[in-house]
Amino acid sequence: MRRTLYCGHLREQHVGKKVVLEGWVNRRRDLGGLIFIDLRDREGIVQVIVNPDSACFAEADRVRSEWVVRVEGVVRGRPAEQVNPKLSTGAVEVVAEGLEVLAEAKTPPFPIDAGWRGEEDQGVNEEVRLKNRVVDLRRKRLHDNLRLRHKVIAAIYRFLDAEGFISVETPYLTRSTPEGARDFLVPSRLEPGHFYALPQSPQLFKQMLMVAGYDRYFQIARCFRDEDLRADRQPDFTQLDLEMSFVTQEDIIELNERLAAYILRETLGVELALPFPRLSYAEAMNRYGSDKPDLRFGLELQDVTEVFKGGEFRAFASAESVKVLVAPALLSRKEIEELEALAKSKGAAGLAWARLESGALSGGIARFVPPALLEQVRVQEGQTLLFVAGAWRKTVESLGAVRLELGKRLGLLEPGFKFLWVVDFPLLEWDEEAGRWTYMHHPFTSPNLDDLHLLESDPGQVRAYAYDFVFNGSEAGGGSIRIHRRDLQERMFALLGIGPEEAREKFGFLLEALSYGAPPHGGIAWGLDRFVANLAGEESIREVIAFPKNKEGKEPLTGAPAAVDEAQLAAVGLSVRREA
Ligand code: AMO
Repeated sequence: MRRTLYCGHLREQHVGKKVVLEGWVNRRRDLGGLIFIDLRDREGIVQVIVNPDSACFAEADRVRSEWVVRVEGVVRGRPAEQVNPKLSTGAVEVVAEGLEVLAEAKTPPFPIDAGWRGEEDQGVNEEVRLKNRVVDLRRKRLHDNLRLRHKVIAAIYRFLDAEGFISVETPYLTRSTPEGARDFLVPSRLEPGHFYALPQSPQLFKQMLMVAGYDRYFQIARCFRDEDLRADRQPDFTQLDLEMSFVTQEDIIELNERLAAYILRETLGVELALPFPRLSYAEAMNRYGSDKPDLRFGLELQDVTEVFKGGEFRAFASAESVKVLVAPALLSRKEIEELEALAKSKGAAGLAWARLESGALSGGIARFVPPALLEQVRVQEGQTLLFVAGAWRKTVESLGAVRLELGKRLGLLEPGFKFLWVVDFPLLEWDEEAGRWTYMHHPFTSPNLDDLHLLESDPGQVRAYAYDFVFNGSEAGGGSIRIHRRDLQERMFALLGIGPEEAREKFGFLLEALSYGAPPHGGIAWGLDRFVANLAGEESIREVIAFPKNKEGKEPLTGAPAAVDEAQLAAVGLSVRREA
């Protein structure tokens, strides 16, 4: 007796046929002496009926949720009034003639059957879910997400293969590839005291593949970064990494837009309008207070620095930047206080406000608002002005956080998929703590050649050939044109405070490669987990990863990370220092 088809594939065309099904018991009910079993496999559920006079009735009576069974039976149509429109198999049922228990099951720690019936799954604590991930993964939502992820990857292979890309695997046990996070280290047994680093990205390898003449490379690559975790970060995550030779920024942007459009068409049947909008970094920051603006709603920041300049409101009169948001609602004091706490957590000194009520501004700083402001900023009755003043970056970033929160609270986000490019990033940013310039993307990104003369004299003004791919307010990808000349790469290292000795020791292999004739090249990496999570409408990338780590970087299912025994440590020349 072999399975004849998936439970979820049964349709009216099968009526009258004899079938063998195998799967899990989604639910079992007794009604009027009959036993009803919803039998489930990855394709869906189908209703199985066991009559009291059937030879397998006693066996069917024993089964419970999540037992694995084989059923042999005949398909029959359901009377019109019993058709279940929520299920693709809802017009048929299977009358059992035989039933065999293949495996019994413990009662699952939480119910997982509702999603398969087209109903809402009950909310369960995430830690409990991750600890019992195998049961959790049985849920419809996760089946849908992992299949979507597979379809995205399959579409990527089809598209890039047709475009002449070659997929190449690069090593996981390697040397540090800096992307701004800490490395995960792996001790070497053959050379005690020496360590491999797991790659933060395949960056340097893909560049060397370009020098080696492969022209168009891609990889679905696992990357490892030891950094603080959030809903959109994992210590090991997946990139779609690609690199191209003899191209400009335009070529890379154009190809990636077509790839995104292809994926959405193939997986969801959604058509994206091309080209995607583009904003410069400065514009994105000024208008949205973010370098990854969520364009699913408007609510732009407006600049009112000049209006307050030299005026009587001391706190604003000499500020480098004053920005205002017009919230389309009369916000209560409590709401404003909550938003102020958020702004302060992002570095604002405070959140000033005023409301337009009964035709006049009132409350908060209303009496300090110059009349000229109302000529510049359009405010309507029943709206609230929210101000932040201070240093430019903190001002826009903190008000940008308020903008996002208001978008959510006031339900301003429109459904759908909003993509854009953010371009013209600064090459460098000033690192207060270290007291020196540091790279904004990575040290291999090319300066915009028009700004090259400013590299040493005014580094902060130098733009990079770097671009970010933003999807519904999340940084779904980032890339750049690279430095392909050894002298410029050395100049860049010097600017970053990496002396010739250190450059040789850490990146000698790259400098060496660049001296063998490197083509101009550039590329990008997408955060595949983030991309898929956005497609699936999930808040957290953990929902599109089969076995994710929790917020503490642990994997509750296996208990990783775990202690290892002394012998294993000794073999790699290590001992663990225990602080008193
Ligand atoms: P970058 O560091 O911007 O660029 O990474 C590319 C994309 O990877 C995703 N990402 C992450 N996703 C989940 N968890 C994380 N911890 C995490 N960190 C990053 C983001 C990000 O946009 N080598 C360059 C690319 C290039 O220049 O071609 C790089 O790695 O979506």
